Amino acid sequence: MTDISRRALAVGAGLLAGAVAIGARAQQMPPQVATAVPVLKATPKPLTLNPEKVKGLSADLLRNHHDKDYADAVKMLNAVGEELAKLDFSAVPPGKLGELKRDEQAAQNSTVLHEIYFDGLAEAPTQPAGLLAQALSRDFGSLDRWKAEFVCIGKSLASGTGWAILAYAPRDKRLFNYRAENDSMAPAGAVPLLTMDLYEHAYAADYGTDLAKYIEAFMQAIKWTNAERLYREAMRV
Ligand SMILES: [Fe+2]
Repeated sequence: MTDISRRALAVGAGLLAGAVAIGARAQQMPPQVATAVPVLKATPKPLTLNPEKVKGLSADLLRNHHDKDYADAVKMLNAVGEELAKLDFSAVPPGKLGELKRDEQAAQNSTVLHEIYFDGLAEAPTQPAGLLAQALSRDFGSLDRWKAEFVCIGKSLASGTGWAILAYAPRDKRLFNYRAENDSMAPAGAVPLLTMDLYEHAYAADYGTDLAKYIEAFMQAIKWTNAERLYREAMRV
């Protein structure tokens, strides 16, 4: 079970327990706002590919990853948003708010990074082209050097959590490979173009603990047209 899954279950259990005991403990609940606050409701994005056709990653793995782990992140994001909308921030205990904001950031990052991950998988091998191919050569020296760093970042996250992220940094007008040890470590001010999920749930069902084999399969399954689309959008930021 992932960190997000655990947190989602904890939030769900907490909400249920709170509902059962609400009458008896009403006076102990955190201060709540009197006015209605709009709550953003996230909806899981459907898979844009046929999971049966992705070489190197099984359909069962991709479906479970999408329908459970990614969906749990979206549920968590919505559950935390509903809790935050009820609070009176001038009176809530700082520790309580701190936990919710921590979970909100992790769930939001996990949601965004997973959506780019699934959109970045191809049913057939592709190669980078156009402006993105030029930028990869410009900022990393060559496509091979970019790939070597990206793969090495993935292998450095052997503990079963984290992300390797190719991103465009508008501040510096260039590409970077970033290493995130968990969902809370996404780069500030950069736009993710391609993400590789290094959480155990992304590969263990197919590859066990053989992280290198999973990374090799992922690198063969990149849908570069999606990264190119995101790059064109990011350059307008
Ligand atoms: Fe994941």
